[in-house]
Amino acid sequence: MTALAQWQATIFTPEEVALRRSLPAVSCLEQFDFPAAVSQVAEHESWRKELHRPATYVHKWWARRLGTVFRRILLDAVSAPDGTTADTALAGLVVYDPFAGSGTTLIEAGKLGARLVGRDINPVATLTQRQALQAWDFPIVERLFTKVEEACRVDIDALFVTEAGEPVLHYFWVAVASCPVCDVIVELFTNYVFAKHAVRRKSALAHATCPTCHDVVSLTLGVDTSATCGRCDDHFDLIGPVRGRTMTCAAGHRSSVMDALAGQSPQRRMYAKMVKTGDGRRIYRPIDSFDCDLYDHASKLLADAAAGELVVPTGFLEHGTNTVQALNWGYRKWAGFFNDRELYCLGRMGAALRDLPGDGPEREALVAAFGKTLEHHNLFCSFKGEGTGAVRSIFHNHVLRPERCSLEGNPWGADGGSGGYADTLTKLRRAHTYKQAPTDLVADDAKVVCAAGLSSPVGSTIAETWAEFSTDLGSAYVVTGDAAATDLPERSVALIITDPPYVDNVHYSELADFFHAWMRPMRPYSSYPQLDSTRDPHEVQNAAAAGFQKMIANVWRECARVLRDDGLLAFSFHQSRTSGWVALMSSLADAGLVVTATRPVVAEVTTSLAKHAAIDPNRVDVIVVCRKRSSPSSRSPAQARAAAMGALTALTAAGVALGPADIRSAVRAAVLAEGTRVPHVDWGLLASDADAEAERAVAEHLVP
Ligand SMILES: C[S@@+](CC[C@H](N)C(=O)[O-])C[C@H]1O[C@@H](n2cnc3c(N)ncnc32)[C@H](O)[C@@H]1O
Ligand SMILES: [Zn+2]
Ligand SMILES: [Zn+2]
Repeated sequence: MTALAQWQATIFTPEEVALRRSLPAVSCLEQFDFPAAVSQVAEHESWRKELHRPATYVHKWWARRLGTVFRRILLDAVSAPDGTTADTALAGLVVYDPFAGSGTTLIEAGKLGARLVGRDINPVATLTQRQALQAWDFPIVERLFTKVEEACRVDIDALFVTEAGEPVLHYFWVAVASCPVCDVIVELFTNYVFAKHAVRRKSALAHATCPTCHDVVSLTLGVDTSATCGRCDDHFDLIGPVRGRTMTCAAGHRSSVMDALAGQSPQRRMYAKMVKTGDGRRIYRPIDSFDCDLYDHASKLLADAAAGELVVPTGFLEHGTNTVQALNWGYRKWAGFFNDRELYCLGRMGAALRDLPGDGPEREALVAAFGKTLEHHNLFCSFKGEGTGAVRSIFHNHVLRPERCSLEGNPWGADGGSGGYADTLTKLRRAHTYKQAPTDLVADDAKVVCAAGLSSPVGSTIAETWAEFSTDLGSAYVVTGDAAATDLPERSVALIITDPPYVDNVHYSELADFFHAWMRPMRPYSSYPQLDSTRDPHEVQNAAAAGFQKMIANVWRECARVLRDDGLLAFSFHQSRTSGWVALMSSLADAGLVVTATRPVVAEVTTSLAKHAAIDPNRVDVIVVCRKRSSPSSRSPAQARAAAMGALTALTAAGVALGPADIRSAVRAAVLAEGTRVPHVDWGLLASDADAEAERAVAEHLVP
């Protein structure tokens, strides 16, 4: 019996568990504004998401939603306005997430006792969801981890040492290009200072590399604008030869960096290292001939590796919004994102993981956790500075941006550095403990506290067909596939709770291919797809509203088919443009769904770069609630605005600061939602109304 089944057995009779209860005709979600306290707790969660929800953080996924918000949506969806909300309210109900991502909905629904169905078109997302849900036998995880360590750690550590045998934490590299005019080599530094404290006011001490001999020179930030090298006596300006996209060679020729690279990925030079001394200090030193020989040795090990000795990342980059920059820099293969030593070390670790015995969830967890090491050990990583996690990972923003000054660390990483595989057991144990006894953030007076005992344990087996899922009560049905075409029976799902892709947001598969290139040869689980890429023509990721509307309507249509007649579809949506809201609302109407409520909620406060890059940034998400049928009464645009303003005022009163963009977004959603209630609505006209009401609302809100 799984932990979940055991837990259910203690509080429900088998009949109760199997009981397909009816859902309220009107739910709390539709009757009341979303409680402002949820926004406050969500704000707290968003600062340290991985700490509060460790189960969904075993593998990287992008745009992860907040568990706090989804837990509330789930509870309010099954609560009638006159009843109380029990934490066991979802027991036995089937909850489905068609765009499951990292599995936020799934684990929150699992914690409330639901039976889970998750689908995502990307296998890397499926891998992440499986880690959030599967039960592990932890002593097996530990035993397998030791096998991996025994298979490769000594050999990897030997490639990150000084001549005297001290561990090297990081090597600093700079890309070089030759001047198109005179062929002289230019090191692509913007500034010769390569190391400083991440927080300036904590320390002004910094380190630069001498442009002539690459000795390490210390200096004081804010005081020194130039420095003198103690070894070669060169007096140099701290400003390097690169300004924006332009570089200047020693002879003064200015050219574009892209022209100089001429479509070939740049060569790189190692110029400094960070060493951990016997007494535990971290010091910077220049590169010596031992370091160069050691690197050459790693290159030779890579070249001489026998077939199968290493896992080699497969596949080529395909053209796309997020890959274009890397392609322009000449990175064509995923293997090209790593230097020789990285390829050798990661390849050895990958092979040790690949060759672990069996194909159980414990082996799978260890393979999935390797993703974090990949993220932090490649040519696109850079140095964040002292006093923080040292490595800025390849995905610190949602684009694949080539790095001129890259940082290389020991991927085993027992001596320090971020993302080393040595941390894996700690990370998996945290996820395991959480799944066994989940905690939740709750508001307690003015504070947010972490409470135990509000949720049931999570731990399922994975079913790969509906038939399997319906006979095995301890399973979750989690597969990779287009949500527009499923094998779910008609009217089989009580709740569909999700977070769809937004218009022109993250291009998931373009980024996920970075991991897929490694996971494919490692096969984390037996049905892991063996395709070249995770790109899929059915992926909803359209920049243009019209394409988005058509693609997502296909998914909503399938949702309407599988949803019970008394069921509810609710999802969060973020959109700063009116056209995006029109596309969304008309796609719902096309699928025969009616919006019964829109609820603004603050769902993100951390500086998500994807959102900041959007035109007119805002931090409000709108929870959109739909039914298959509903009384067709509709509100006027002004009434819809008034309703949205009520919710926004409550948020403001609770101390949540809102800007004009937040108000526009909430009001546009509310007005355009009315279009799903009126047959043959004129969307163009309604869009003008939505904009007019949004401006009225902004003006009204700004008046104290
Ligand atoms: C906004 S993300 C979901 C994030 C998730 N809520 C979380 O917290 O991690 C949207 C997801 O939709 C998936 N997706 C896009 N098109 C799809 C399709 N046609 N069928 C199923 N999933 C799709 C993407 O791969 C992506 O993971
Ligand atoms: Zn030149
Ligand atoms: Zn010098």
